[in-house]
Amino acid sequence: MDSIRVVGGIPLSGTVRVHGAKNAVLKHMVAMLLAPGRYRLENVPGILDVDIMGEVLDHVGATCVRRGSVVEVDVPEKLNPEAPLELVRKMRASILILGALLARVGSARVALPGGDDFGSRPIGMHLEGLEQMGAEFELSHGVLEASAPDGLSGTEIFLEFPSVGATENLLLAAVLAKGRTIIGNAAREPELADLAALLNAMGAKIDGAGTSTIEVMGVSSLTPTDHTVIADRLVAGTYALAAASTGGRIEVVGCDPAFLRMELRKMEAAGCEIERGDDWFSVAGPDRPRPQDIATLPYPGFHTDMHPQMVAFLALADGTSLVTENVYAARFRYLGELNRMGADVHADGQHVVIRGVDELSGCEVDGCDIRAAAAMTIAGLSADGETIVRDAEHIDRGYDGFVETLRSLGADIDR
Ligand code: EPU
Repeated sequence: MDSIRVVGGIPLSGTVRVHGAKNAVLKHMVAMLLAPGRYRLENVPGILDVDIMGEVLDHVGATCVRRGSVVEVDVPEKLNPEAPLELVRKMRASILILGALLARVGSARVALPGGDDFGSRPIGMHLEGLEQMGAEFELSHGVLEASAPDGLSGTEIFLEFPSVGATENLLLAAVLAKGRTIIGNAAREPELADLAALLNAMGAKIDGAGTSTIEVMGVSSLTPTDHTVIADRLVAGTYALAAASTGGRIEVVGCDPAFLRMELRKMEAAGCEIERGDDWFSVAGPDRPRPQDIATLPYPGFHTDMHPQMVAFLALADGTSLVTENVYAARFRYLGELNRMGADVHADGQHVVIRGVDELSGCEVDGCDIRAAAAMTIAGLSADGETIVRDAEHIDRGYDGFVETLRSLGADIDR
């Protein structure tokens, strides 16, 4: 097991360049299954989840070769339409091959992902939407057998919640379906708009991606293309909060601050000074944050994947804050770890109550999951003494060069 060791108390300063988004590139790799041929993805982060998605694609019959921040994918004419449990278990995003394989091959066998630390995370909306398009499902021995005996046909689907994964699965299915699909109450995430841009460059006809109504006119075939992955706003936001919690000042480049509108607004309200450009922003942290009330919501609301890092920042606020988690049923395991560092935080239903304390003190804590591990590191950066964040592998799932980047900003940190 790997750990991150961090000694707190040093204000961060310098410049961070943001790498490509995990939650975009994973979907782009699946989208490539929609047409045979060679693809080139640029600005790909060196993270574990990209390697796992590479394994999923290998299993399906494609080959992925990574050279630095470039991944080349070669997709054959004939695919093996299945994702086994060992891969789905490693990474839930594998479920997206369902829509792509149904569209391309007309069938798929995908192990059902179980729950995780955020709660049960069902996929009912993915399946209902695909059923409306003509897919049939049978669950047998934990494996979902999907088929589309008469092919997929466009239809009008209205999601009960703007689920990112369900919107993407339906989009992947719709681009090759017969006729017009309308996805109402769609997720509006920038990563999803980037997926639609890639699909349109492949010849798809998608309108409205990035808004809550997406219209897709199915085409009979697509062709491969090259694509540069959009910046990772969660990585940008994590470094911004890391700097702010040390009272430091950094510049974050390569990311449009509009993708973090709500997160940066809340940081400003907490006392951060923020300057914005087209694809950069700078943040200077306050002596002590002012307490905030925040509710996580689908984009453009405050991102649930910034919740733990924000709580770590507000742990030292001058008063009591409230963070209401609306996206996941249970994302609170890290709170106990923060309390071991001297924080005063607890969950009350979906609300996290954060009574600001004067100081955190370093100790050994668990990383729990990718964003919790980032939050514990942020707490460590502002704490007195040394913090050891265990299970640091979680960080490798979504942050390329996390420790090195923080060290380049002046942090006393190593692995
Ligand atoms: N949900 C359902 N039924 C469904 C689908 C979703 O009840 O059929 C619920 C989920 O249980 C959850 C909520 O809806 O409570 C949101 O789920 P959503 O489908 O929007 O999320 P996702 O596609 O599974 C992606 C990101 C997550 C991020 C969420 C929310 C990827 C690979 N994952 O997951 O990212 O938290 O959107 O923005 O894109 C992370 O990067 O650390 C991460 C967990």
